[in-house]
Amino acid sequence: MLCLASAHRDPKRYPSPDEFDIHREDKAHLALGQGMHYCLGAPLARMETQIALHTLLHRFPRLDLAVPPQQLQWRASFRSRALKAVPLTLR
Ligand code: HEM
Repeated sequence: MLCLASAHRDPKRYPSPDEFDIHREDKAHLALGQGMHYCLGAPLARMETQIALHTLLHRFPRLDLAVPPQQLQWRASFRSRALKAVPLTLR
């Protein structure tokens, strides 16, 4: 079983893997699988994500974290890396 959560944070593969860098040029990842079992819903998932983020940021352009990033809590999961909650302020 692959541990995708750590594969994406391998410093030998990705420089500064824990940094959220929206301008990162090397975007290769395994989040939607690989090869013959590549995610069948990938185009739908990409479209939904694009629409959701666009709508959210358009409606709330001043969206911001309500707590310092150090206070965010991560789920303990072998398979994926996800936050337990993302407290936000809309201002
Ligand atoms: C952000 C959302 C999604 C993520 C991160 C994701 C991730 C993945 C990953 C990693 C796999 C490969 C699993 C493996 O190799 O064992 C996979 C397979 C698959 N996904 Fe997704 N998925 C997403 C959304 C969707 C959606 C929206 C659908 C359907 C509408 C879907 C349908 C499938 C199916 C049917 C497979 C199995 C493909 C196969 O084994 O041939 N996924 N997905």
